[in-house]
Amino acid sequence: MIDRVGVVGLGYVGLPLACALASKLFKVIGLDTDLEKIELIKKGETPVYEEGLQELLKKVLEEGSLKLTSSYREMIEESDACFVCVGTPSNPDGSVDLRYVKETVEMISESLRWVDKYFLLIIRSTIPPGTTSNLIKSILEEKSGKKPRQYGLCFNPEFLREGRALHDIFNPDRIIIGAIDEKSKELLLDIYKRFHGESMPPVLITNPTNAELIKYASNVFLATKISFINMISQLCQRLPNADVKVVAEGIGMDKRIGREFLDAGLGWGGSCFPKDVKAFLKFGEEMGLCFKLVESIIEINESQIENAVKLAKELVGNLNGKKISILGLAFKPGTDDVRESRAIRLIEEFLKYGVEIKAHDPKALEKAKKILGNRVNYCKTVEECLTGSDLCILATEWPEYKKLNQETLKRHMRIPALLDCRRLYDPEEFREIKFAAIGLGPKEVRGP
Ligand code: UDX
Repeated sequence: MIDRVGVVGLGYVGLPLACALASKLFKVIGLDTDLEKIELIKKGETPVYEEGLQELLKKVLEEGSLKLTSSYREMIEESDACFVCVGTPSNPDGSVDLRYVKETVEMISESLRWVDKYFLLIIRSTIPPGTTSNLIKSILEEKSGKKPRQYGLCFNPEFLREGRALHDIFNPDRIIIGAIDEKSKELLLDIYKRFHGESMPPVLITNPTNAELIKYASNVFLATKISFINMISQLCQRLPNADVKVVAEGIGMDKRIGREFLDAGLGWGGSCFPKDVKAFLKFGEEMGLCFKLVESIIEINESQIENAVKLAKELVGNLNGKKISILGLAFKPGTDDVRESRAIRLIEEFLKYGVEIKAHDPKALEKAKKILGNRVNYCKTVEECLTGSDLCILATEWPEYKKLNQETLKRHMRIPALLDCRRLYDPEEFREIKFAAIGLGPKEVRGP
């Protein structure tokens, strides 16, 4: 039984995991090589915004169940298993940059050389199928000098949504364990059994390669679902009286399809989908396969930006010199993360047309500034963002934007016009102003 665990890489995935494990009777030691980050976390501050994380971090620090370090030696001495949660960014060609995973496994393995104990290594970073059984296993054996059965190794993917990471750690749909041998599987399964207790989710036990592929296939499938509904949204825009929201509702009622991930909009962004979809395409190529389906979902995702620009032109005519207010910059609501944010892609596109951009976001202004710099005016309130503008575009569906009504738009804007790129609003409530939305067909009054 293992009750002392390490977590390496204290970012969006690792820090919530470390805090969650520490809150459930595990002794946790979190490691990050970024000393500033470690100092910040020691003070109870979270470098990433996650619902409930700050409170949980403070609690586990006070209880003494979470310790922090930047020393691999210390982490290995104070744990018997370790979850690797470091980033796997993209190379310029879209393939996966495994540098951080390799470095981490090397450092862990070198420290293991000096201790005479069984140690379980659990990889959570998203890596191409085959990486655990080949690259990671060989680094581990070479650098630690340990032989099979003197160590354990699993690939155990995470399916966390940003902003909801803690919720997803405590209530996962499933646990996938890709283990190299029986003992590794038993030990990791036992950690999860003690973590979840009575509410243990369904578990799939397999080899590391299948587990690695399950992670990619899940993300590519979800991105495909979104691109599919975005394709339908483009069709709806050409069909009088059609509405993609109703179509999504209707097809989603089929249990085999399901309603989730059928929200049409600007497309998928964030730290996972764009990176994983590209990596999967690249991986297929390396295997001698050309995934036309995956190429198409990327194309559809891109075309939703052009689609939004086209709708903006229909509402306000020539874009040059127009003032546009953008509501929402985060890649989705509930996070301050702007990585691959579709709102930012849209802004970049508008800037090419000589549009003046004012932008608002409840949480992501600081991070957006780092990308867009002084090319955009950042506003503290929605009203300030709307003032004097020719078009308001809802780009990220933060719940607080739902309050917006046509009176507010009329009061503040030069010309009241709204483009709903996330289908947050009821078109009926904006009848007195210019209104358009992704996936909404032109109005045509026919009939008796
Ligand atoms: C995703 C996966 O959901 C998660 O399982 C995986 O581990 C990491 O990637 P995340 O990136 O946090 O999580 O966000 P998610 O809520 O899945 O949204 C991803 C993107 O798709 C966002 O840009 C979102 O706006 C968009 N999206 C999502 C849609 O456009 N329509 C939908 O119906 C759902």
